Amino acid sequence: MTLRPILIHPDPRLKKVCAPVAEITEEMRVLGQDMLDTMYDAPGVGLAAPQIGVLKRIIVMDCNKPPEAEPRPLVMFNPEIVWQSAEIVASEEGCLSLPEQYAPVERSATVRLRWTDPEGAPQEETFEGLWSVCAQHELDHLDGKLFIDHLGFMKRQMITRRLAKLMRERARA
Ligand code: NI
Repeated sequence: MTLRPILIHPDPRLKKVCAPVAEITEEMRVLGQDMLDTMYDAPGVGLAAPQIGVLKRIIVMDCNKPPEAEPRPLVMFNPEIVWQSAEIVASEEGCLSLPEQYAPVERSATVRLRWTDPEGAPQEETFEGLWSVCAQHELDHLDGKLFIDHLGFMKRQMITRRLAKLMRERARA
C-alpha cells in the first residue's frame, strides 16, 4: 500500500487542466490503486489525480458507507459527463485539499458518466445522491476547479484565509 501526499490549496497544481490518459498501463493501474489507498486512509469518498500532483484525468471514488453498503472502489480513467439532470441539489461539500472547510454547493442531482476502467474497458453508469455530487466534484478537479470556485468571491476568500491559518497552526503544532 502506497500513500501519496495530498496537495493543499492554494497549490498551483490544483489549478491546472489535466491531460487525458493515453493508455491504461500497469503504471496507471498502480497509480489508481495508490489513489484509492490514499483516499481511504485520509479518509475521504473521492480523490482526483491532481490532488497528489499527477496532472492526468484519473479519479477514484467510493461513496458507500459500511456497514449499510459494501465498499465499491471505483477507478475512472478519462471520465466525462455524458448527461446531467436539470434538477439541482445543494449539499455541503468538503475536499481533502481544503481540510476542515465545508460549504453548500449546487450540482445536478443526477449525472451519467462514461469512463475507462483499469482493465481498459469502456464503462457508462448513472449516479445519484452522494455519488453524483462526488463525481461532479472530482471531475471539476481535472479542470483545475475546486468546490470553492462555485462560491462567491467573499466566501472563497474567507475559506482560503481560514485554511491558511489552520495550516500555520498545524505546522506549529
Ligand atoms: Ni476535492
